[in-house]
Amino acid sequence: MSSKQDDDIRTKSGGRFSRRGFVKGVSLSTGVLGAAGVLEEEAQAQSKVAVQGPGLTPIQLDINNRPHQVSVEPRATLLDTLRNKLDLTGAKRVCDRGTCGACTVLMNGKVIYACTVLAIDAQGKKIETIEGISQGKPHPVSVAWVNNDAQQCGYCTPGFVMAAKGFLERNPNPTYEQVKRGLGGNLCRCGTYVGIRKAVLEAAKTMGGKVTGGGNA
Ligand code: FES
Ligand code: FES
Repeated sequence: MSSKQDDDIRTKSGGRFSRRGFVKGVSLSTGVLGAAGVLEEEAQAQSKVAVQGPGLTPIQLDINNRPHQVSVEPRATLLDTLRNKLDLTGAKRVCDRGTCGACTVLMNGKVIYACTVLAIDAQGKKIETIEGISQGKPHPVSVAWVNNDAQQCGYCTPGFVMAAKGFLERNPNPTYEQVKRGLGGNLCRCGTYVGIRKAVLEAAKTMGGKVTGGGNA
């Protein structure tokens, strides 16, 4: 029935509401009240959460076993914070969208892309960067990189070395195929993959693991 017909019925029934009008009215008001309830609940939940930003927010990061106090906008990535605020420029900014691995660091021992983690979310976690393994005696992975000529331009190298370190800590006795897969999240545009994989296998040996599966490309 059209709304005109409804109006006619209302008019003919001396201004009383039709059944359809009554049902429509109830549905509408229930919907509005329901939405208002949800909004109110959301507002109450938000009022309990500490709001951070949008301006500079003081945070503390544990990087290479040292506490670092820094102020960042909540939207700042861990990568930008390392490079631009803390002068730790080993992790490189290449794709800035989690595809190349040039920004790889370890967070609580896990290999991560620093460009995909917010600095404020990295609080309370142990961050390890290439600078952390470059102090004093070179790390076995770094030594193996040199021995196997595993770089050309070197831009991807810090990310690869950190990915290799994280990989070997979880897989101390890898096969060549496992190395290939394990470092699949890092790209080298110069194409030094063969040297890189051999370096990881050599590092596994010098770090105490037994390598199986050979080191052929
Ligand atoms: S810069 Fe982070 S993955 Fe490429
Ligand atoms: S050595 Fe050039 S991108 Fe890896």
